[in-house]
Amino acid sequence: MKTSTTTTDIATTDLMSDYVLGNYGRFPIAFERGEGSYLWSEEGRRYLDFSSGVAVCSLGHCPGVMQDALREQSAKLIHCSNLYHVRKQAELARFVVETMMGIAGKVFFCNSGAEANDALIKLARKRAYDKYGPAAGRNEVITCQQSFHGRTLGGIAATGQPKVKIGFDPLLPGFLHVPFNDVDALREAVTEKTAAILFEPVQGEGGINTATPEFFAAAAALRDEHDILLMFDEVQCGAGRTGDWCGWRTVLRGSGINVEPDAVSWAKGFAGGFPMGAIWVSDAHAGALGPGTHGSTFGGTPLASAVALAVLQEIESGGVLENVTVQENRIRKAVSQWNFPVIKSLRGVGLMLGFVLDPVAMDTVPGFRESGLTPSLFVVNRAREAGLLTVPAGEGVVRWLPPLNVSAGEVDEALALFEGVLAGLSGR
Ligand SMILES: Cc1ncc(COP(=O)(O)O)c(C=O)c1O
Repeated sequence: MKTSTTTTDIATTDLMSDYVLGNYGRFPIAFERGEGSYLWSEEGRRYLDFSSGVAVCSLGHCPGVMQDALREQSAKLIHCSNLYHVRKQAELARFVVETMMGIAGKVFFCNSGAEANDALIKLARKRAYDKYGPAAGRNEVITCQQSFHGRTLGGIAATGQPKVKIGFDPLLPGFLHVPFNDVDALREAVTEKTAAILFEPVQGEGGINTATPEFFAAAAALRDEHDILLMFDEVQCGAGRTGDWCGWRTVLRGSGINVEPDAVSWAKGFAGGFPMGAIWVSDAHAGALGPGTHGSTFGGTPLASAVALAVLQEIESGGVLENVTVQENRIRKAVSQWNFPVIKSLRGVGLMLGFVLDPVAMDTVPGFRESGLTPSLFVVNRAREAGLLTVPAGEGVVRWLPPLNVSAGEVDEALALFEGVLAGLSGR
C-alpha cells in the first residue's frame, strides 16, 4: 500500500487498481470532462460518445437543465426521508403516470435498475400472496433467456444468462427462463405457481433483441387467462430511448396489437445520469406494496426527483423524442449503403441500435484471432482508438446508444468514424 498523501503523481489506472475492487473489466482510459455528445480523456483527447454511460446520459454530458436543477434544488433541500411527504417526488410521479405512461397507477422510486426490478419481483409475489394466500405458492416469475435484470440477488436470479449466476448459489428460487419470443415455451411455462411474466421489450445486454408483437400478445393473453402480472423491464429501452416514452409502444406501433402492462421498471436514462430507478404499478395492483412492505432510504429524494423531473421535462418539451426517430432514420439510411462483410445487419429500435457482426468475416480480420477478444470487444476497441465510444452487447453485437438529443452532424461524424473502422477491418 502506498502512503503518499498526494495522488496527483499516480496515474488514474494505477490508483484504480490499487484501491478499487476489480469487479469490472475497464478500458484503459479515464475521462476528465464531458460536454454534450463528447468526452475528453485525461490526456486531452476528445471522443464522440455513442455509449452515453451505457444508455444513461439521455441529454448528453453535463446538460444545462441538469446543472440548473442540481444547483437550485441543492440550495433548498437535498435529502429528506420518506417519513415525510416530498413535493418533488410527487411531481415526478405525476409526470410518470400522466405523461410517460398515460395509464392510471402509482410510482415507487429507488436508485438503480436492479433495485427497480427487485421491487417488481416483490410486487408480483406480494400481490399473489395477498390474493391467493401463502398455501398457493404463487411466487414464480417467468423471464427470458438472454435477458438482463441487474446484479442484486433478485436481479441475477431473474436474469436469463448463466454467466451472471456462477458462484452465487444458493440463488433466489422461483424463476423460469423461456427462449425470447418463443410463444409456445411461454405458454408451457405458465402454471398455477406463476405470479408474473417479466421481460425487456428490447433486450440490451443480451444483444439488442426486440420482442415480437406476437410475444407481447401471448404474454398479455396469459396474464388475462391466469390472473398474473405482466411486467416490462424498461431500464435500458425506456424513458425515450426508442423515440417514445415507452419502449413497448414503439415496438408495437403499426402491429395492430395493443398491450398494456401491469408494472414497469426504469433506471439508466430516467434521470439523465443522476442515480435513480423507478417502478410504475397500475392502480389495480398498487395496493400490494402498502406501508412497511418495501422502501429505500435514498428513494425519491428531493434532489434526485428534481433532477429527473428536469431531464424528463426537457425530453418532453425539447423535441427530443422526435429527434430519436429522425437520427435513427439517418443512421439506418447511411448504413443501408454500406457493404462490409463483417456487418451482418443493423437491428434495434430508436437510438438503441446493434451492429450484428459476422463471425466468419471477423475470423478473416488481421489480428482478430490473435487478440483472443470477442468480436464485439475487438470492434469496440478499434472504434475507441478512432475516437468513437460504443458498447459491446454480448459477444457479437456492437451497440450504439448516443444521447437522445444527438445532432445530425454528430451522427454523421460517428458514421464516418465507424465506416473508417469497418473499412480498416476489411483491409480497404
Ligand atoms: C434491462 C436492464 N435491466 C436492469 C439493469 C440493471 O440496472 P442497474 O445497473 O442500474 O442496476 C440493466 C443494466 O444494464 C438493464 O439493461
